[in-house]
Amino acid sequence: MKALVYHGPGRKSLDERPMPKLMSATDAIVRVTRTTICGTDLHILKGDVSTCEPGRILGHEGVGVIEQVGAAVSTFKPGDHVLISCITSCGKCDYCRRGMYSHCTTGGWILGNRIDGTQAEYVRIPHAETSLYPIPAGADEEALVMLSDILPTGFECGVLNGKVQPGSTVAIVGSGPIGLAALLTAQFYAPAQIIMIDRDANRLEVARTFGATACVNNSSGDPVAEIMNLTGNVGVDCAIEAVGVPASFELCESIIAPGGTIANVGVHGVKVDLHMECLWDRNISITTRLVDTVSTPMLLKTVRSGRLEAGKLITHRFGLNDVIKAYDTFAQAADTHALKVIIEA
Ligand SMILES: NC(=O)c1ccc[n+]([C@@H]2O[C@H](COP(=O)([O-])OP(=O)(O)OC[C@H]3O[C@@H](n4cnc5c(N)ncnc54)[C@H](O)[C@@H]3O)[C@@H](O)[C@H]2O)c1
Ligand SMILES: [Zn+2]
Ligand SMILES: [Zn+2]
Repeated sequence: MKALVYHGPGRKSLDERPMPKLMSATDAIVRVTRTTICGTDLHILKGDVSTCEPGRILGHEGVGVIEQVGAAVSTFKPGDHVLISCITSCGKCDYCRRGMYSHCTTGGWILGNRIDGTQAEYVRIPHAETSLYPIPAGADEEALVMLSDILPTGFECGVLNGKVQPGSTVAIVGSGPIGLAALLTAQFYAPAQIIMIDRDANRLEVARTFGATACVNNSSGDPVAEIMNLTGNVGVDCAIEAVGVPASFELCESIIAPGGTIANVGVHGVKVDLHMECLWDRNISITTRLVDTVSTPMLLKTVRSGRLEAGKLITHRFGLNDVIKAYDTFAQAADTHALKVIIEA
């Protein structure tokens, strides 16, 4: 089968690889019909994710059709359409029992990281019963790809951890797919202000159409002053970091209001300064989280009912043969105006 393989920092190629096989009775083999590329895949290619070794098939998002199931899988059968969660969970370990699937002792974020992922014709899914979701008949399967990772990530790591409330002020640093997913799901709670911050004018334009009340381009000028001006010199109740570089986290530290919460979402590859000399007396909280995907069933309902328009995050479509072009398009978003690129296998 064809698969996009990571060969070490900066190197990837579309290779011929053997078909995955069942390795455990709880596994399923899924024929991937649609997958996509995440900002995290770009972090892997930068060398930021040390657990991902050369030779790994990338990808942790997608939908597909069950090809084969292990003897212990009773809730899925060949031919079933399924949503693949970016998080694998056994449902039984201490972390899973606490709803912290991201730290499942035999799962967590392993797809396209510690085990081969979804940017391929077929993928092996461990703990299939608790790591796949049935797709209801008639659903827009392309839109559901947004539920593998970005919508639960924006919602759980950003909106829930950031304690977005009715009437609160929210700033989201990074208007990429994850920041935009946080923008869409923050609106479940009717905050008074959602300020989007990015260096890319096009992405800010998109944010405005997705419901941002103000946009700040931090490629020039004084973004902190602009945000203070927008919030009556108080700062924001919730600052969501959705980039994964020191500058974006430090911007959150500069704009957080007393009593506020900084919710980190970005994957960081280098150390970030914590300015305790400015923050020690401000009663703030800082949260970090690897997405647990506990909200996937709820988000699936909001997408199905049309309350959450997930499909509008999709800007480009490619065949698996053109996956390298898909990576180039996603990585050069400032020129291509790409948000999520769908890869059809
Ligand atoms: N915690 C989790 O479980 C989890 C899950 C998925 C993704 N992530 C991470 O979330 C982050 C965002 O993902 P994405 O797919 O949206 O990535 P992306 O690369 O598509 O988007 C990042 C955005 O940040 C902007 N940006 C870059 N530097 C900036 C700066 N200094 N100030 C303001 N904006 C800046 C870029 O222009 C871009 O629009 C990544 O770090 C990704 O790895 C985390
Ligand atoms: Zn991801
Ligand atoms: Zn577990």
